[in-house]
Amino acid sequence: MDELEREYGVTNSIKLASNENAWGSSPKAIEAIREALTNLHRYPDGSNYYLVKAIAEKFGFSPSEVIIGNGSDEIIEFLVKAYVEKGDEVITSHPSFLMYQKVVQVRGGVNNILPLKDMRHDLATILGTITDRTRLIFLDNPNNPTATAIPPGDLYTFLSNVPESVIVVLDEAYVDFMDPEMQVDAYSLVRNSKGRCGVVILRTFSKAYGLAGIRVGYGLMAADIVSSLHRVRQPFNVNKLAQVAAIAALGDTEFYEKTLQGTREGKAWLQKEVKKLGCTTYPSQTNFFLIDVKGDAAALYEAMLYKGVIIRSMKPYGYSHVIRVTVGTDEENYRFVGALADCLSELGYVS
Ligand SMILES: Cc1ncc(COP(=O)(O)O)c(C=O)c1O
Repeated sequence: MDELEREYGVTNSIKLASNENAWGSSPKAIEAIREALTNLHRYPDGSNYYLVKAIAEKFGFSPSEVIIGNGSDEIIEFLVKAYVEKGDEVITSHPSFLMYQKVVQVRGGVNNILPLKDMRHDLATILGTITDRTRLIFLDNPNNPTATAIPPGDLYTFLSNVPESVIVVLDEAYVDFMDPEMQVDAYSLVRNSKGRCGVVILRTFSKAYGLAGIRVGYGLMAADIVSSLHRVRQPFNVNKLAQVAAIAALGDTEFYEKTLQGTREGKAWLQKEVKKLGCTTYPSQTNFFLIDVKGDAAALYEAMLYKGVIIRSMKPYGYSHVIRVTVGTDEENYRFVGALADCLSELGYVS
């Protein structure tokens, strides 16, 4: 935002581009950080003992099935470091979260990148692409950037057909925003893997808990996978403030519920207003959604920057008329709709 204001000469800019929490951070997390500030001369607890325990208790896992990362990004790195040697294969979708591809590339893995089908993971083609060299399959569920989720029945069938030698990584960064009937049972996916692939669930404190800036995420998986990941991580990978903030945020149901409700209501309002402007919206299981603006998305993105509103163009992903917007506060949503209306008419996209 600073950069935008410097380069475009705008003030009071808003960012609806990174799927962050519009309502800030859990007040309980901020209080916990404040209290921990007097103890920064000591290294953090390298085992993340209390945070692991809190997550295990909340979701019914054993602590040996939980790992913490400096963002869930870091756990993606651990997985690739631990399981992918040069020439091993990893399956990802496109477009999906770009971090998977970057990490596999650095590691010298062979990345089979399969196009989405109707903006969804193409599970049949993924199954057909598995070989003896396949180590990992990354599925962000819901998918970023399309906001689509895999129907649970389809996912269970898919998993039962993936060989035991493969690990499927189910990245649930946006799980909190999903309709309850679309959510899968993480516990049974991790625990009941006899005769099929292992499943790793990734989650983050960056979205519904509002802690993107402090970097903390977690993974739920079989204890032997956790052990492999511990071997490739740094001893103090998660800082002290992140640990106390995450524990406090987990217990802050008031902030969590406020975020979910604000997202639900804001998304419904935005979708209604955007349709009034002549655009089409896509269904969403997340705190962001796609909009077909009926014209070049890159030009619209640029025009929105001049109004001080940062969104994402999906043109680089192959959706030339589509933008992605994150649900903001009421005030931000209102600003976004006003700016969009002006830009659409300036660019002559809709009458
Ligand atoms: C699908 C997906 N996975 C993981 C992440 C990264 O989350 P974290 O902030 O925990 O590294 C993101 C961030 O936008 C995401 O969209």
